[in-house]
Amino acid sequence: MKNIFESVELNNLRVKNRLVRSATWEGIAAPDGSIGEDTYEIYCELAKGGVGTIITGFTSVATNDFYFGGMMRLSDNKLIPQYKKLVEIIHAEDCATISQLALGAFYDKNLVEVSENNLSTENVREIIKMFIDAAIRAELCGFDGVQIHAAHFFFLSRFISPLINHRTDEFGGSTANRAKILLDILRGIKNSAPKLHVTIKINSSDFTSGGLDEAESFLICKMLAAAGIDSIEVSGNGTSVGGIKAGVNEGYFANFAALG
Ligand SMILES: Cc1cc2nc3c(=O)[nH]c(=O)nc-3n(C[C@H](O)[C@H](O)[C@H](O)COP(=O)(O)O)c2cc1C
Repeated sequence: MKNIFESVELNNLRVKNRLVRSATWEGIAAPDGSIGEDTYEIYCELAKGGVGTIITGFTSVATNDFYFGGMMRLSDNKLIPQYKKLVEIIHAEDCATISQLALGAFYDKNLVEVSENNLSTENVREIIKMFIDAAIRAELCGFDGVQIHAAHFFFLSRFISPLINHRTDEFGGSTANRAKILLDILRGIKNSAPKLHVTIKINSSDFTSGGLDEAESFLICKMLAAAGIDSIEVSGNGTSVGGIKAGVNEGYFANFAALG
């Protein structure tokens, strides 16, 4: 029987134990995504705590994404040395690290937020490329992997939700069309940054009437598996479900996770 303190080898990822620190936004990066000593201290302490893998707080793939303040970014090559240092600090504790790549929202050149349905097909391709380019930078920094953030109603989570996406192009309509953005990002990363472990965080359900439900989320997970995703982190809703009580109704994604 395996236990959580045993090492494990997943695709492109060897970790000393099975404990994973889930992505947690610190909100302390500079507006351009630069990070400094305060960020290094947090991650050093986390790594010294003994966890096998740290997934970073959400890291925007866009320079002009103002969805949250203080977001880390991998949107520009000039940031690579700072994030390389972050990786080195974590690796020094024999801890693996995965950069969580996210887009909060897409802003046009006048810095106005563009809704999922008003983006041109070309804009969507631009977003796919932003994710792939950020993953290439993550690989150059030495990250062991990247996590595509498709949960919590961030851009990708909204984009795959039938409640929100009413597009009529190749990126809207059927489940396969709405999921195409994820598959194109995944395939692009696998082609361009082949050393990375590529994981995705996805809503098992939006827990919202008319939104992504478990059956459709599972279908998308199967498409991702067929396209070579290395692992899947199951989440849901905005960040979690309300009304959860210790020892009463914890582990509320367990049934969905077991489907895989
Ligand atoms: C302060 C704080 C910051 C968080 N930042 C992120 C984040 O950057 N990315 C993310 O995917 N989830 C983030 N989360 C959500 C957690 O990673 C996790 O998904 C959530 O606590 C619920 O756990 P669950 O996914 O098992 O429901 C954050 C949660 C908290 C409390």
